[in-house]
Amino acid sequence: MKSITLVTLMSITLMGADGYKVYKDNCMKCHAEMMTKADVMKSFKSLKAPPMIEVANKIKGNIHIVDEDADIKRRVVIAFIKDYIDNPSIQYSMCDPMALEKFGVMPSLKGKLNEAQKQAVSEWVYDRYEGNTF
Ligand code: HEC
Repeated sequence: MKSITLVTLMSITLMGADGYKVYKDNCMKCHAEMMTKADVMKSFKSLKAPPMIEVANKIKGNIHIVDEDADIKRRVVIAFIKDYIDNPSIQYSMCDPMALEKFGVMPSLKGKLNEAQKQAVSEWVYDRYEGNTF
């Protein structure tokens, strides 16, 4: 019994956090997972934040790596998202100014997520929308 628990604990640690679960527990109440632009227009008034597909695509579209190395780009975008979770700021937001005015700046989630959870959810945001345009 004891050894099974230990093995389970170890595998959870080795695998790291589940990014989608972190998203569902901490981001989904404000950022919808998937929406079309038309849906956003239609329900704009009731939205609390841009949908996560828009967030992912906006950041990916704004960050350009000179030699277009996909791995470096992935790392830089993930680092931006990870930092934004703790340190949202009007200076760093890439949100459209009109939308920013409606939504306000995201409240900081500092202290709510550990390092592994922040890494996992940021990777999930990057990978979830690969190949999806908004
Ligand atoms: C209480 C609501 C709320 C929660 C919870 C929330 N966000 Fe946000 N988030 C916002 C709002 C509003 C904005 C748009 C304004 C801004 O850019 O700060 C935003 C913007 C962002 C941006 C920047 C987008 C840009 O274009 O610059 C990122 C990245 C982001 N959120 C990631 C997350 C992640 C990851 C989580 C969960 C770990 C999360 N957010 C949880 C409200 C929230």
